[in-house]
Amino acid sequence: MTNTPQVRSVSRIIDGFQTLEGAGFPVRRPFPTAELSFFDPFLLLDEMGPTQIEPGGHAVGAPTHPHRGFETVTYLIDGGMRHKDSEGHAGKPGPGDVQWMTAGSGVLHDELPDEAFVRRGGTMHGFQLWVNLPRKDKLMPPRYQEIPAARIPTGRSPDRKVEVKVIAGEALGARAVIETQTPIFYLHYTVAPGGEVVQPAPKDFNAFATVIHGQGRFGPKAVAGVEGQTLLFERDGDSIRFSNDGKEPLSLLLLGGVPLNEPVARYGPFVMNTQAEIVQAIRDFQSGKFGEIAP
Ligand code: CO
Repeated sequence: MTNTPQVRSVSRIIDGFQTLEGAGFPVRRPFPTAELSFFDPFLLLDEMGPTQIEPGGHAVGAPTHPHRGFETVTYLIDGGMRHKDSEGHAGKPGPGDVQWMTAGSGVLHDELPDEAFVRRGGTMHGFQLWVNLPRKDKLMPPRYQEIPAARIPTGRSPDRKVEVKVIAGEALGARAVIETQTPIFYLHYTVAPGGEVVQPAPKDFNAFATVIHGQGRFGPKAVAGVEGQTLLFERDGDSIRFSNDGKEPLSLLLLGGVPLNEPVARYGPFVMNTQAEIVQAIRDFQSGKFGEIAP
């Protein structure tokens, strides 16, 4: 008998699907796709860019649209956005900032490139994640957590080869400041060549990694994963292991969450449990129950 934690296997590797979102900005989307509609409790992941914007150039976002029944999480790596919603929140997330918006019963919001950033030009790069809410929380009052980069805790390995920004959950002795509705970890790892990570990930969590840059080896069989790929893990162990066998730093997002195991009815920006609740969401939106965005 040994007490060594069991390392989870890789069950699937997904090459993100390239598409246009909002008013037409390029995203890479591992799910939802025809092969994988969601990975409970995660409903969608979009990598926005990286897109080079010329100074004074053209950049589009997602003008006024509603959400109900889940959470949208925006993590900006580079560039600048501007956000405004019907609850009176407004923010200008920049590099490293996180915005965790629990839409609950419903919000309207605008997610647009920041004008000052577009005038200067530069790289726009970030992620949007949709996290489902359990039936009992789908109509909760909306909640908004905006955490600047400086307040995102960072953990480091003793050999200094691994750094992790802890957006949700816990890693390398650092604990997130963001509160989640259901148990979630959201970790941005940067691993120097030769570095290795063993992240605890309880068996009841679904977990996946998305490689932002570089290449790594994952799981007990050291499966290769490269930039743009998403790796889903089996629930056959209680830790996730990966290493950087490349010459460049490996940067990736590692996410996990406890599946809700509830029916999912989705229609565009609404995610409920039943079709009747979707119809109700559309009706409430059309009759103005989501409020409005102050000018
Ligand atoms: Co949105």
